[in-house]
Amino acid sequence: MKITIVGAGAVGASCAEYIAIKNFVSEVVLLDIKENYAEGKAMDLMQTASLNNFDTKISGCTRDYAKTAGSQVAVITSGVPRKPGMQREELIEINAGIVKDVANNLITHSPNVIIIIVSNPMDTMTYLTHKVTSIPSNRIIGMGGALDSARFKYRLSEALSCPSSDVSGMVIGGHSDKGMVPLTRLATRNGIRVTDYLSKDILDAVKHQTKIGGATLTSMLGTSAWYAPGAAVSALVHSIVCDQHKMFPCSVMLSGEYGLEDLTIGVPVILGKNGIEKIIELNLDGDEKNSLIQSAEGVKKTNNILSEMGLF
Ligand code: 2OP
Repeated sequence: MKITIVGAGAVGASCAEYIAIKNFVSEVVLLDIKENYAEGKAMDLMQTASLNNFDTKISGCTRDYAKTAGSQVAVITSGVPRKPGMQREELIEINAGIVKDVANNLITHSPNVIIIIVSNPMDTMTYLTHKVTSIPSNRIIGMGGALDSARFKYRLSEALSCPSSDVSGMVIGGHSDKGMVPLTRLATRNGIRVTDYLSKDILDAVKHQTKIGGATLTSMLGTSAWYAPGAAVSALVHSIVCDQHKMFPCSVMLSGEYGLEDLTIGVPVILGKNGIEKIIELNLDGDEKNSLIQSAEGVKKTNNILSEMGLF
């Protein structure tokens, strides 16, 4: 079983490390455009194998997509990350052309590949991948909601003074500072609604901190985060490769679900060996529905820039 990760930067390398340590695939190929960079990251990671007790073979290559042939899953992290003060949407001019080329190069060598998009603006990059490739929609998955939900659970665990493992919660909508929809009404601490524990003010603060979670770290680190994004991707890959049928919020093409169509946005899906096995339609309340519709308008606005760029 082979997994390819395009982009050996911090997110890509973290993803490779988490996949390797979980030891559920035989091979991870890291590809980058910078000479010997992916090769160096792969060698460094392989030198942890005896220490972290994994048998996964991690290799690196420079631009050589032939080395990615036969991948079951490929992760696109390539492009530039945002700098402090930037919105993810501002990366579209640089990243769109990169994602289009990378997606087509991957498919040339792995026609049955399932693609996970991380590059920002992620919802729009996922939409672009649908528009510039002919692979079925169940094999194109945008990773954002899994990361946002992890940040949501972190903030809830802080407010509840409990371990994150005690908390269940989901963020749907666009992977953007304004577009995320943390579902506080449905979040629980060990099966009990968090609304029974936390005031509206605290829950509003949790929602806000979740929505700016990426920007908060970018201002602290000077660049986008990488550990949680890498871990979120590895969880999606695990569910696909091991056919776990876990539920994650992912950016997927909607064709009428939630009253939305012709856009990709974060909604709960079941991930298995076929990629998106099923899109789950939640019974949202009025506020949640309105927030999702507003978020969709924001994603569509960014998507419209793609056609102005003449990418499809
Ligand atoms: C984040 O929120 C990189 O968009 C990603 O950290």
